[in-house]
Amino acid sequence: MEKTKKRNGFASGIGFILAAAGSAVGLGNLWSFPYKTSANGGAAFVFVYILSSAIIGSIVMLAEIYLGKRAQANPVTAYKKANKGLGWLGLFAIIIPLLITCYYSILGGYTIKYTMNSFNANSQILASFSGNVGEVILYTAIFIILALVVVMAGVKGGIEKASKVLMPALFILLVGVVIYCLTLGAGVKDGLAYYLKPDFSQLGFKGILAAMSQAFFSLSLGMGIMVSYGSYAGKNIKIGQSVFMICLFDTIVALLAGLAIFPAIYHYKAISGVDLKVNGIMLLFSSLPVVFDNLGTIGHIVSFFFFGMVAIAALTSVISLMEVVTQFVIQKFRVHRTKAIFVVAAICFAISIPISISLGFAINGQDKMTICGQNWLDFIDMVTNTVLMPVCAFGSCIAIGWFIDKKATANPLKTFKTLEEDGLSLGKFGKIFAVMVKYVTPALILVVEIFGVKDIIFPGNVFSKNGLGIVITAYALLALAAIVYFVWLVKRETGCNADEIDIAIAANLDESDEDEVAEEPTEN
Ligand code: PFF
Repeated sequence: MEKTKKRNGFASGIGFILAAAGSAVGLGNLWSFPYKTSANGGAAFVFVYILSSAIIGSIVMLAEIYLGKRAQANPVTAYKKANKGLGWLGLFAIIIPLLITCYYSILGGYTIKYTMNSFNANSQILASFSGNVGEVILYTAIFIILALVVVMAGVKGGIEKASKVLMPALFILLVGVVIYCLTLGAGVKDGLAYYLKPDFSQLGFKGILAAMSQAFFSLSLGMGIMVSYGSYAGKNIKIGQSVFMICLFDTIVALLAGLAIFPAIYHYKAISGVDLKVNGIMLLFSSLPVVFDNLGTIGHIVSFFFFGMVAIAALTSVISLMEVVTQFVIQKFRVHRTKAIFVVAAICFAISIPISISLGFAINGQDKMTICGQNWLDFIDMVTNTVLMPVCAFGSCIAIGWFIDKKATANPLKTFKTLEEDGLSLGKFGKIFAVMVKYVTPALILVVEIFGVKDIIFPGNVFSKNGLGIVITAYALLALAAIVYFVWLVKRETGCNADEIDIAIAANLDESDEDEVAEEPTEN
């Protein structure tokens, strides 16, 4: 069969939604959302977060999924198809997930260790485990191999199948843990109050910005994921509905996570009088284990389910991060998926080693192996999430809002028409989308970028040389991506999903991921 008669990708709408939700639901929901909420005014933060997901997140997600769907190709080709001059954003959207995979996999490795060690006093192991580089590397490797196995099996046979099992499992585990924590008795009410009582005075402008950037990270935006997953979406997948479901699921999981964590922490406070730390790495890998260990055998069982659930969430996120890079390697270098994922996994694993050493030093209070005053994990996290991700998300809005229509009129009604003709029909929501994607969302993203950068260079309003170094590194990376693109990629083929089928057929592998369906016109 000719390549134009075949399409590789998600077989069903629900498979697509669960895979994208799998990417979205991760450590950002189960870990950082709860503690950011408690630190920034409880329900006031939740309110801004939901608003951010709705008016910034969902618009960027729509733009990115649509960019991918219309191109049926990797992010470089997808941005390039919107406009040749924007292809560098696609390259950028491949470098960011590559970097995030390197540190996210280490944390994934930690969650596997804590799951396996649940019956053995997890509360005692953070210092020794994080300082034992060999063991951390081993668990990181296990985590990367798990993701590799899924990505290697392809989009339909691996990612979609795994998401259909793992996401419902995650949800059931989460609900179970929440019910258990809410019925602990003493302290539960205080925990809920601490988590959710609205305090607008604590929110402030900083809290609003934190909510906005948390929404980006949590929804996996500005890093090629949704472009890549969108490219594997066929005619049967309705973008508007899917985006709604993904955002809803992501927010529900984040909210539920807090309903488990804070009652548990405050229950411990009520019975022991001890205040446990609820921020950063301590919350997940030190404070919660103290609570679980204190609850005896049942606590150990709950710990096993809790960390198992966090590991699943992290795994489905890393799968999506690795898929973006793998898709590009397959299509640009015309290599088979198996080879591509092995190369990608090996690179990520190699980079993860120094990061895990640096993290170990940081956790153990040793000021060694830092870049710009940060341990490597925090350094990469700031470079990618605070500085670079908004740039890429901004680019996605601009690509759809201003460049699909070659005449680039300022009139959103014309943009709305062009998008409809191009295949994106969102019904009544179409006009609102056109206004948002063209003006409102990019403007808000710009605010997030400017103040995010300002906060790094002037933490606490005092100039920081290290902060400046972080920002310069990030923008240098941006410039590098643009140079590489314009020198090496702009005039060359960068491949598409149909090529992947050819490559699989040429490699004579019948289990390739293609669907024997006629290629559909991109319509929503
Ligand atoms: N969205 C995931 C989370 O909330 O933890 C993390 C993540 C996955 C971020 C994929 C970025 C990404 F591209």
